[in-house]
Amino acid sequence: MRIRNLKNTDEIVNNSKYLIKNPKDYKGNYKKIFNNNNPIHLEIGMGKGDFIINMALVNPKINFIGIELHTNVIARACKKLENLELPNLRLINVNALELNDVFDKEIDLIYLNFSDPWPKKRNSNRRLTSEIFLNIYEKLFRDKKIIRLKTDNTLLFEYSIISLTNYGYKIDEISLDLDNSDIENIETEYETKFKSKGIKINYLKAIK
Ligand SMILES: C[S@@+](CC[C@H](N)C(=O)[O-])C[C@H]1O[C@@H](n2cnc3c(N)ncnc32)[C@H](O)[C@@H]1O
Repeated sequence: MRIRNLKNTDEIVNNSKYLIKNPKDYKGNYKKIFNNNNPIHLEIGMGKGDFIINMALVNPKINFIGIELHTNVIARACKKLENLELPNLRLINVNALELNDVFDKEIDLIYLNFSDPWPKKRNSNRRLTSEIFLNIYEKLFRDKKIIRLKTDNTLLFEYSIISLTNYGYKIDEISLDLDNSDIENIETEYETKFKSKGIKINYLKAIK
């Protein structure tokens, strides 16, 4: 993601009550952060946060955690949250490759929204639906495993269907034009951009 650097990135992130600064200390105990037993949904690669912030606003009985690799990107979400009170939302600045050090069987659903497609075959392991990542997700889920994915990218979509089904997931919902389907949807930043160019959005829900 190309992004202009925000001034005071470190200050914004360090002062945000939404950012969990020592996420590995809470492994297995995330319900303590939220002070309830409500389901926990993760968005991996949350970008600037439009999706997860709006999801948390409209679903107060679900806890949301946004995962983002880049500090200057997560800082944008922290800035948007400065004047909002959302007790059911937290953010973590971490690489998804480290998620087994952060969570232990406590996640109910994972969102993968417009993940980087890594089009070259030699980089396919970096796709967030590669076997490497599915192995990581396996130990995050509390019980039933649910992944919801949206992408404009046909190659990533086809790859994900194959990778997920090879891993034992069943495709429970699918659309090649999410906007013209009955599926409820909250847009991400990338989605808004693609839709304004007339690009159709692929969506799937996979269950294991
Ligand atoms: C193409 S952007 C999409 C952002 C947002 N989900 C949206 O739809 O607008 C992909 C995001 O995933 C993040 N990302 C990529 N690989 C990641 C990883 N291994 N761990 C955490 N975040 C990652 C990137 O930094 C980037 O912000």
